[in-house]
Amino acid sequence: MNKIEITADGSATIYVPHLDEHYHSVKGALTESLHIFRDCAFMHYPITTTQRLRVLEIGFGTGLNAVVTAMASDDSRQAHYISLELYPVECEMIEKLNYGAIVDNDLLMSLHRAPWESTEHISPNFALEKRKCDFTKCELPKGIDVVYFDAFAPEKQPEMWSEELFTRIFEAMAPNGILTTYCAKGEIRRRLQRVGFIVERLPGPPGGKREILRATKPKEL
Ligand SMILES: C[S@@+](CC[C@H](N)C(=O)[O-])C[C@H]1O[C@@H](n2cnc3c(N)ncnc32)[C@H](O)[C@@H]1O
Repeated sequence: MNKIEITADGSATIYVPHLDEHYHSVKGALTESLHIFRDCAFMHYPITTTQRLRVLEIGFGTGLNAVVTAMASDDSRQAHYISLELYPVECEMIEKLNYGAIVDNDLLMSLHRAPWESTEHISPNFALEKRKCDFTKCELPKGIDVVYFDAFAPEKQPEMWSEELFTRIFEAMAPNGILTTYCAKGEIRRRLQRVGFIVERLPGPPGGKREILRATKPKEL
């Protein structure tokens, strides 16, 4: 049975015994979410005027990435947040995490209670579309500006990290679109490069992994 554990920055995560894997970095769940996804992807995307960024998340999980993005959305940097999840986490489990003390808990629970397969306008600046589907098989939405690639690690779920799936993500993205992931393995970086991304190695979250990856789809192909 899945268990709740506390990570090094005090925020909780879920441990999955049958995979021997956590939903977040044990060095800090919230720190990882803020650095890798909110700051290096969503906030990094260059906007010149009001823009509603189309964000695609692989793995909705606890909704932590979603809630920090909703909290960062404002009148100029808005989000249409599409999240794919095959195994939704029960609300009872979410309520047992300690996220109420570190993020806007009402907002977090509204994201979890939002229906699947529908677009919900959670606030004027943040729309959520949760899709219950298998990422390895489903059709991807088009015109994506930002991808949060937050699958379980390649050693645990190798089928989520194939070159074929990266090609499908690349094709789903708009020019200048950016993808970030916590995984900085050389083979994953080369796969992203082979499908056409320009890939940077960036410093990881404070106290966490040394490096992370950011992949950008070039404007001109
Ligand atoms: C590392 S966790 C994601 C953590 C999440 N982003 C968060 O903020 O809590 C990986 C997620 O991928 C989901 N997942 C696993 N296999 C999947 C699949 N084939 N399609 C879609 N989601 C999948 C898991 O259920 C899990 O929620």
